[in-house]
Amino acid sequence: MKTRREFLGAGLAVAGLAGCAKHLPLRTATPVAPPDLTTGAGSLKAHAAARGFLYGCAVDVGLLAKDEAYARLIREQANIVVAENAMKWGPLRPTIDTFHFEEADALVAFAEQNRMKVRGHNLCWHRQLPAWFAVEATTANARELLAAHIAQVAGRYAGRMHSWDVVNEAILTTDGRADGLRDSPWLKLVGPDYIERAFQAARTADPQALLVYNEYGIEAEDAASETKRAAVTVLLRRLKARHVPLDAVGIQAHLTAGRKYGAGLMGFIAAARGMGLQVMLTEMDVNDREWPADEAIRDGVVADCYGGFLDLALADPAVRAVLTWGITDRRTWLNGEGARPDKLPERCLPFDQKDAPTKAFFAMRKSFDQRRIS
Ligand code: XIL
Repeated sequence: MKTRREFLGAGLAVAGLAGCAKHLPLRTATPVAPPDLTTGAGSLKAHAAARGFLYGCAVDVGLLAKDEAYARLIREQANIVVAENAMKWGPLRPTIDTFHFEEADALVAFAEQNRMKVRGHNLCWHRQLPAWFAVEATTANARELLAAHIAQVAGRYAGRMHSWDVVNEAILTTDGRADGLRDSPWLKLVGPDYIERAFQAARTADPQALLVYNEYGIEAEDAASETKRAAVTVLLRRLKARHVPLDAVGIQAHLTAGRKYGAGLMGFIAAARGMGLQVMLTEMDVNDREWPADEAIRDGVVADCYGGFLDLALADPAVRAVLTWGITDRRTWLNGEGARPDKLPERCLPFDQKDAPTKAFFAMRKSFDQRRIS
């Protein structure tokens, strides 16, 4: 209802301007969205596009098929989408010889029907591996398994993807290795060159997609983030020095309301830019678990966190896309893994449980508008 009214309202406003255009100076010919309009010219994707970057979100593809309100919200707000789970090894490949491409295909079709871009997530990760992996993957076959998987999955969507998260979360300095690499199944089975092998295979399979290294825990101003940022920077430099086909770094941006973000983040983004990499904020959300139940308090700190972080990150021209990990509080992973001790639903995304825009929506849009166009 609201959407339709807003849409009609916008149409009338534009028609009104057009009607008196001959009496008015030229600059009024550009319709200005009324501040209460949150779709069309008032949507996150429109405000991002006006500043030369993309806005989108992770999609629960199962929900997309059965929930029209959810699908409409994504159509209205996003010009880039990513599967929250459907393209990961586990969901995609239930046995070593079986691929379930239905959900992944459905997301790509949805994006194309609605003229959105698609990110692929992901081709190589230590989590959500299928159960058979632990039994069937060995040092003898892991290289070929990785290469063939990437050839098949990235090859299937070749030419249709904006970008692929080729390797996800490969750094964990607390695992104690000098190179900072996580002691993951891929490291154990293939060795440290699994990362460049994955990127090479992805470039061969889809020469057009931007190839991304995606990481979490590199956002804050604390010692853990600082150490991890340093290790990720060394990894990126090493990959670039070896001419590995790497185009961008993804900063997941799973944030915590009340944390400080600042110079460390900006230094990391600037270093990536200096290596010729694009930067994407790939999985943004704001956990409110450290705050009391009061909804107004939580909505305020979450919105401040979105606004503050985006003001920082969007100041760097290397940042080309912002994706939230979900779009409505009706569907967020944070009620599982990041759940509040009191189990209240998180208020972490730009739309609330009733799909109404939150304070965070308006804070995001304001930050988008402040981006300097380069
Ligand atoms: C999460 C999904 O949101 C959950 O539904 C799933 O159970 C676990 O994975 N970093 C990532 C994402 O790169 O793939 C994760 O997604 C969230 C953390």
